[in-house]
Order: sequence, then structure tokens, then C-alpha cells
Amino acid sequence: MDTDSFISFMRKLKERCRQAFVPAISERCGRLLKILVQMYSSHREQFNVLEIGTGLGYSTLWIAKGLLDSNVRGEIYTIEINLGRVETVMEILKEANEIEGLVGVLNMVKLIYGDSKEVIPKIEKPLDFVFIDAEKTEYLTYLKLVEPLLNRNGIVVADDVISHKNLLKDFLDEITGSSMWETVIIPIDDGFSLSIKVK
Ligand SMILES: C[S@@+](CC[C@H](N)C(=O)[O-])C[C@H]1O[C@@H](n2cnc3c(N)ncnc32)[C@H](O)[C@@H]1O
Repeated sequence: MDTDSFISFMRKLKERCRQAFVPAISERCGRLLKILVQMYSSHREQFNVLEIGTGLGYSTLWIAKGLLDSNVRGEIYTIEINLGRVETVMEILKEANEIEGLVGVLNMVKLIYGDSKEVIPKIEKPLDFVFIDAEKTEYLTYLKLVEPLLNRNGIVVADDVISHKNLLKDFLDEITGSSMWETVIIPIDDGFSLSIKVK
């Protein structure tokens, strides 16, 4: 997987995020997301991902790399509320599409400008994998909106569950307490929750 051109593109993008003060997951969280997506999508005919909170597309591209490396037909819907960021991400996706190991990403990623709370109910595709990384006080709202769209055994990963555990209390209570979910908290950087929809 570690084509020099892919990793070098991702490191430059991470630096661009830092300079623009746009938060992004760490490289090792990116690798974890990539591996999870690649694991779950392999041997599937179609695999649909939703990302809530695009930022500058750093996590989007790790997810896309997982799908590209598993060679599965898939779509990634990614929602961003900040118009300037959406415009920048469109340019970044075009640049990424020229990079060895990321060719095809431009068709795969459906970048949507808007508030996730309004956009998610309009998504008509069944989802297999959801990554939540937007407004911390709204995680539970996002979860409730994606529940009906997510296939059985579908996966939800959420970022910042350790660094922002107080703000995320209602969300964490739900994914650890509801019979719909089985969850493990992964103590990696700001903390990932990994949940599978069992009902
Ligand atoms: C932490 S950043 C995302 C970083 C990105 N996931 C990454 O790791 O590269 C959170 C993003 O969510 C966006 N956001 C906040 N509330 C949102 C909402 N309701 N709908 C869509 N995007 C939202 C912010 O504008 C910001 O760009």
C-alpha cells in the first residue's frame, strides 16, 4: 500500500491542514480507518461510506485508499458545512486523482456541502460504514439519523471520544448502552469508538 507518492501526498495534505488550522486525524488513525474499510469491504460487490465532517479531506482520502486497495465498487459521501473548505477539497480531490494509488478517487467521493443534520435524511443509499468527525455536541443526532440507513452489521467509527468524552456523553451512553450497538473504545490519539450495528 505504501506507495511513496500516496504517503508523500498525504503528508503534504496533513501539513496543509495544519497551516490552514483545519483539524485532521493523525496518520495512524488514518491507517486504522483505511484498514477497517479495506477489511469490511473486501469480497463485497458494493460498499457505501458516509463521512460526517470532511475538513480538508484528509480522512476522506484514507477511507478512499481502503476502498481502492480492496478493489471494491464503492461510494464515499462526505458532508462539510464550510463552503470555503468544500471548494478547497474539490481542488484537493482533483490533485489526488492524479496520484499513483489514488486514481479513481474523484469519481468515488461525493462531496456534499451542507449541514449533516439536513443532508443525511436525504441520502437514499444503504450505508455500510460511517465515520463521524464533526460538531461534538451533535454526534448523537448524527447517529440517530444514520441508524435507519445503516445495514445490519454496519460500522460506525467516531473520533475524539476520549479527548471530548464529556461533550460526547450522550452519544457514548447510547453506543455503549443500547442493544442496537456493540462498541469498543480504541485508545488511539484522541480516541476512536468502533461500533457494529447488531440489530
Ligand atoms: C475535525 S474537522 C474534520 C476533519 C476530517 N475528518 C479529517 O480528519 O481530515 C470537522 C469538520 O466538520 C465540519 N462540520 C461541523 N459541523 C458540521 C455539520 N453539522 N455538518 C457538516 N460538517 C460539519 C467542520 O466545518 C469541520 O470542517
